[in-house]
Amino acid sequence: MSNVTIMNHPLIKHKISMLRNENTGTNEFRTLVEEIAMLMGYEALRDLPTEDVEIKTPIETCKSPMIAGKKMAVVPILRAGLGMVSGILALVPSAKVGHIGLYRDPETHEPHEYYCKLPDPIEQRTILVVDPMLATGGSGSEAVSFIKQHGGKNIKFMCIIAAPEGLERLQKDHPDIQIYVGQLDRCLNENAYICPGLGDAGDRIFGTK
Ligand code: URA
Repeated sequence: MSNVTIMNHPLIKHKISMLRNENTGTNEFRTLVEEIAMLMGYEALRDLPTEDVEIKTPIETCKSPMIAGKKMAVVPILRAGLGMVSGILALVPSAKVGHIGLYRDPETHEPHEYYCKLPDPIEQRTILVVDPMLATGGSGSEAVSFIKQHGGKNIKFMCIIAAPEGLERLQKDHPDIQIYVGQLDRCLNENAYICPGLGDAGDRIFGTK
């Protein structure tokens, strides 16, 4: 599992437990998703390249590292992924934001694309695909495939909760990407919901049912 990082930090664990609680309301849920995305993003972006630039401090001039090159793009999978964007932008305000819209067929649970708009060019960017829930892995895998078709190369995938089935599929379909998982749950149920999970992340972020 060398391309998978499962977070092991008490703050992330605590916040995910709060997310799971069915009594956590929309406002708090949204804030927690943002905060977890930021904490996970800190880890996922550990290898962003830096270059030394000249900075004049009040004391003297020095060379100091800053994020180099074409920087990054964050690509939420609509709609629940939107909830993670602000947490990443808090870390890298200059990141471009692409969007991929996929919906799950209620019968087959397979993903279908209805929207895809990515920063152009995308080739040289570090691309962070975000979706709070990696369930069957179908949407995540399709999203990464679309980004590759558009020329994306350095792709990372970040989710808050993963099911073993989804993680396995994403790894199998895309062994070349790095995957960051907040917590690995037990299994999927017959409706492809993650157990114990947190329910429907999109509904809980946006207060819909
Ligand atoms: N999507 C969700 O929002 N929750 C799940 O449990 C699975 C997929």
